[in-house]
Amino acid sequence: MSDPITPTDAEGTTRRHFIRGVASAGASTVAAGALLTAPGIADLVGDSGVASAAQPTGPFADFRALAASSADAFEVPEGYRAHVVIGYGDRFANSDGTQLTFGYNNDFLAFFPLEGKPDEGLLFVNHEYPAPFFQHGVTRAADKTAAQIALEQESVGNSVLHVKKDGEGLWQVVSPSPYNRRITGAGPICEFTGPLAGAARVGETARGSIANCSGGITPWGTALSCEENFQDYRGYGWTGANALAADATNVEYDEQAWSKYGWVVETDPYDPSWTPRKHTALGRFRHENTAFRAVEGKPFVLYMGDDKVDAGVYKFVSTRPFIPGRRAHNLKILEEGTLYIAWFDHSRRTFAAEGDTVPTSPAAGVGWWREVAESELEDCQERILANVGSDEFLAHHATNRPEDLEVDEDGTVYISFTNNSRVKDVHGAIRKLVEHGNDPTSVGPSKQFTWSDYAGGGDRGADKPAGERGFSSCDNLCFDRHGNLWVVTDISSSSLAGASSRKPYYEYHGNNAVFMIPRSGPNAGVAFRFANMPVEAEGTGPYFTPDEETLFVNVQHPGEVTPDVGGVHGDLSTYTSWWPNGNKTIGFNPSTPVPSLVAVTKLPPRADPPVDRPPHVIPPVPDPDRRGDPRPGDRGKPKLRLPGLPRSRRQGQLLRGGLPLTIAVDEPARATLVLQLLVTSHVGRGRKRKQRRKLVAIARSTRQLRAGRNELTLRLTTAGKLRVRALRGKDARAQLTIVAVDAAGNRSSAAAALKLV
Ligand code: FEO
Ligand code: CA
Ligand code: CA
Repeated sequence: MSDPITPTDAEGTTRRHFIRGVASAGASTVAAGALLTAPGIADLVGDSGVASAAQPTGPFADFRALAASSADAFEVPEGYRAHVVIGYGDRFANSDGTQLTFGYNNDFLAFFPLEGKPDEGLLFVNHEYPAPFFQHGVTRAADKTAAQIALEQESVGNSVLHVKKDGEGLWQVVSPSPYNRRITGAGPICEFTGPLAGAARVGETARGSIANCSGGITPWGTALSCEENFQDYRGYGWTGANALAADATNVEYDEQAWSKYGWVVETDPYDPSWTPRKHTALGRFRHENTAFRAVEGKPFVLYMGDDKVDAGVYKFVSTRPFIPGRRAHNLKILEEGTLYIAWFDHSRRTFAAEGDTVPTSPAAGVGWWREVAESELEDCQERILANVGSDEFLAHHATNRPEDLEVDEDGTVYISFTNNSRVKDVHGAIRKLVEHGNDPTSVGPSKQFTWSDYAGGGDRGADKPAGERGFSSCDNLCFDRHGNLWVVTDISSSSLAGASSRKPYYEYHGNNAVFMIPRSGPNAGVAFRFANMPVEAEGTGPYFTPDEETLFVNVQHPGEVTPDVGGVHGDLSTYTSWWPNGNKTIGFNPSTPVPSLVAVTKLPPRADPPVDRPPHVIPPVPDPDRRGDPRPGDRGKPKLRLPGLPRSRRQGQLLRGGLPLTIAVDEPARATLVLQLLVTSHVGRGRKRKQRRKLVAIARSTRQLRAGRNELTLRLTTAGKLRVRALRGKDARAQLTIVAVDAAGNRSSAAAALKLV
């Protein structure tokens, strides 16, 4: 990529600093905020005290915890606002003209800042798996057409989104943008690195990336996407007769014949031309996540989990040292090193009966890191098990499914073990691991780590406040800058709904949720419920912006059980969720459920009741008595008018004062306004010379409109001002377009021509 858009840390040209305290501990989450921050937001880590619900500091430290919910709504406490940034099927574009579509089942996400632009950044998003029922309606693998399989292939992988806060502080996708990109299950070609690159079942390259569950970041500014349940893709028919007839290379998704997927894939979100790299040195298993410790001049350490029942926890120790600022060097770190699997004296938390919350196994112990041989890398779980024997593996390596790991600032590793039916662990627990001498490169039986259970899942009792009843089936973790631990839950959809025999264990919990656990102060260790997910959805990839003003979270698989409970494609009444455009629980606005990326921010102090802005529930709860609320069953489009819009505007006035507008609308609506200039250019020479005309956006804004008349001013962008100045007073034509969407998702638009004189 060329200069202007890429704040790369190519040696000497940029400033990606580690902040005091981070370089030594290398905490993944904190570093995520710190490593790429622009000058001016440097004091992210500092020495600030640890927040708790009793000692509130920061927008997310002090909230009224929510009660459990089974409603078909996304909900955060009052005083916050939540809005959908983008959902499956939404279109966006690269400025080179490439049209892109946001993928299905968004899971991991990370925010990558743009230097010097605190209200702007890139979101790197994983798309884990497709949903044939909702996408095209054919669920039997053998019946799918090649086009339906191609649609599924296009809907997994990664999205890179350029996002920016609008005038109201709401995050919007910037489109077109030179950063915007999709990596899909079908491409681009990814390169293998490390010891198995070129091996018989691996080869040199792979088509795209699939099963992208969670992931992580690196301190040199790349994203790591983890390929988890790659074995499911044969089940989608991707290697069936119809797929192979259309493209014989589809056979590469067959994990019994090939080892193209199941790796950690490194991508530079700042460079849309980057070839993703699959690092074989990190082993092949059901990769779920990564978390690093980086110490200047020392080997780089990456912790990883194998998210499968009775599978292990791993760490990679690089051969090359980590050298801050030496990007070309650091980009090779994951290509060479040694992989280890954790040996625990008691690797699984076991219970006498399902639903118990007190384990029969110890709550603390010791362990060490066993080297994974190169011959075990291609299928770590199976080959290590074969080499050590199943008794040894089950007693010391098998765990209760590591869904996530995070490294605290002090180097402690937190591991989220979600649950494990084989040892009657219904609710899961978070385990802490402290390395021998706090040295992440410690390995071998003589250098033992210690571990202890930090927080266990399960019902704390009906006598506890509703928002403190406890989590179950912990999944992704993250720390905020005050050290509070944020936990999302993933009780499986089949356990939440349908006829599962395990359903009663989770009734206290309601839908999946986001919890905050203060780690000090009077409420240390208590899980406070911060957000509720809609029906059958899981909240994934929670991620704070560096200024911690925004919490992004992905809402994955709403309504997932629909095809298993007799759902009929196209018959919305049979869908188990209508989120985010509808709420099935209250019969509001039947819609196809859409996995979506949500941004949560705190409302400014003493903000007006959230009538004119996205409130704390998605979709907003209709209140017939409150003006501005959506009406149940609202199918009507907003009626738009532009009274008094002049036919022309002087260029000088436009440059100085923007374009004043009156927009009349019959109901509250969210409006996107774009002012485009008609630009004429000439191409070719002589008789082949042709005139080319195109519309170029010179002003753009998104506003919440109240019912009635709205007075506002549309101001030119910096680039727009340059365009208008370049006219040098010569008359030109422009077009104003307004698209308005009401709370029920009904859409209408209006356009008007404008002469610039
Ligand atoms: Fe994709 Fe293990 O969650
Ligand atoms: Ca997960
Ligand atoms: Ca999960």
